[in-house]
Amino acid sequence: MNISVKLGLWFFICIFIIETCSMIFLHRNIVQSLVSDELDSLLARGNSHRDVLEISLDKATLHHIGLMESQTDTEVVITNKFGKVIESSNPIDHDMEAILKLKVDDIPRKGLILQSDWQKKKYISTVSPYEGGNESKGYVYMFKSKDQIQHLILQLNSHFLFASLLILFFLFITIFFLSRALTKPLISMKEATSRLSSGDFSVTLPVSSKDELSELAHSIQTLANDLNYLKKERNEFLASISHELQTPLTYIKGYADIGKRNSIDETERLQYLHIIHEEADHVSNLLKELFDLAKMDQNTFTITKEKINLCSFLQSICRRILPVFTSKGIQLSYHCQKDLIAEIDPVRFEQVLFNLLDNALKYSNEQTITEIKAIQEKKNIIITIKDQGIGIPSDDLPYIFDRLFRVDKSRSRLTGGFGLGLSIVKEIVEAHDGEIFVESQIGKGTCFKILLKEP
Ligand SMILES: Nc1ncnc2c1ncn2[C@@H]1O[C@H](COP(=O)(O)OP(=O)(O)OP(=O)(O)O)[C@@H](O)[C@H]1O
Ligand SMILES: [Mg+2]
Repeated sequence: MNISVKLGLWFFICIFIIETCSMIFLHRNIVQSLVSDELDSLLARGNSHRDVLEISLDKATLHHIGLMESQTDTEVVITNKFGKVIESSNPIDHDMEAILKLKVDDIPRKGLILQSDWQKKKYISTVSPYEGGNESKGYVYMFKSKDQIQHLILQLNSHFLFASLLILFFLFITIFFLSRALTKPLISMKEATSRLSSGDFSVTLPVSSKDELSELAHSIQTLANDLNYLKKERNEFLASISHELQTPLTYIKGYADIGKRNSIDETERLQYLHIIHEEADHVSNLLKELFDLAKMDQNTFTITKEKINLCSFLQSICRRILPVFTSKGIQLSYHCQKDLIAEIDPVRFEQVLFNLLDNALKYSNEQTITEIKAIQEKKNIIITIKDQGIGIPSDDLPYIFDRLFRVDKSRSRLTGGFGLGLSIVKEIVEAHDGEIFVESQIGKGTCFKILLKEP
C-alpha cells in the first residue's frame, strides 16, 4: 500500500470517528429538546383549556374545546373529579384509557407530564387540573400521538443524512488533495534517492517552503551535490595519479631500454641505473604519501596526543632542517613564546612542520628569510611559518590544499613535488581539531598559520 493511500486512510478513519461521534451526540440532544418542547407546548395547551374552563364551565364551552382539538394534531379528554369522561375531541382508544386510569395524586396547578416515552408508548401526554364553581373539579388530559414526533424525527434524520453525506464528500476531496500534496515531495525524494543509489547524481529537488519536508529535500540535494563533486574529484584525482605515475615509469622504461644495449659503456649504464633508481624512489614516495592520505580518509590513522614543550619541539626541528636552508642560502629565524605547552602528536606534527618548511625551502630564493613563530593568543596556540619566496597567485590559493594540486606543474616536477604535502598537512591539523590558514603575495612571500585550540 503506498503512502498516500495509507495517509488518506488514516485521515479518513480519524475524521470519520470524530464526525460520527459528534453527529450522534448532536442528534440525541436535538431529539431530546424537540420532545421536551412538544411536552411543554402540550402542557401549555392543556393549561390554557383549564383557564377557559375555570371561567365558564358549561356544556357549550366543553363542546367548544373538544371541537377545537378535533381539528388539530393533539387530542383532549376532560374528566370530572371521579375520572368520568365528560368531553373528548375524538373517540378514546385503548392507550388513552390506560393513561386516564393512571392514579396521580397531588397534581400541581401548573400541570404534570404523564407520559414522555415517545419511543415505547403511542402517546405523549399531560394533565392539568381545573376547579370550577360549585366544587366541580376535574382534569384536562392532553395527548399527542408519537407518529407526529416520529415524523419530525424522520425529517431531522434526513437532514442529518444529507449533512453527513456532504461532509463525507468534502472529506474525500480534502483527503485526496491533502495526501497528494503531502506525499508528492516524499515520492520525488524517493525517486531522487533511488537515482542517487544507481549512480545518477544529477538530481534537482524543489525546496520552496521552510518545513521539515523541505529541509529533508535540501539535505538530499546537498548529498547529491556532494556526491557529484566527489565523483568528479575522484575521476580527476585518478587521472592525475595515472599521469603522475606515467612520467617516472616512462623514464624507467626508456633508461632500462638504453641500459640493455651492448653499445654503451659501463659508466653510462651505471648512470642510467642511477636515474632508474631515482625515478623508482619517486614513485615509491608518491605511493607512500597516497597511502598516508588514504589512511587519513578511512580514519584508520590515529593521533596520539601528548603534552609537549612546543619551543623545544620546534627548536629540534629547526636544528635538523637548518643545514639544508643554509646550503641554499636561506636564513631560518625562530621565535617561540616562553614555556608554551601544546597537546599534539609529535610524530604527526613533525610531518606538518617538515612539509611546510620543505615548501618554504623549495619555493624561496637565496638571501631570503624563513620565520618560524609560536605564540599564545587567548587560549589558542598559533604557529606561523612565513617565507619570502615566490608566493602563490590569489586565484590558486583556494586549491592549494587539494590533492595533487601544484601551482606550476613544470617547476614542481623539477623540485620533485607531488602536490600532496599540503593536503597531508591539512588532514593532520584538522585531526588535532586545529585550523590552517594561508596568506600569500606573489613575489613577496607566503605565510601559513596553524591555530591549535586548547582542549
Ligand atoms: N611556501 C610556498 N610558496 C610558494 N608556493 C607554495 C608554497 N607552499 C606551497 N606552494 C604551492 O602549493 C602547491 C602545493 O603544495 P604541496 O606542498 O601540497 O605540494 P608540493 O610541495 O608541490 O609537493 P609535495 O609537498 O607533495 O612534495 C605547490 O606545488 C606550490 O605551487
Ligand atoms: Mg610540499
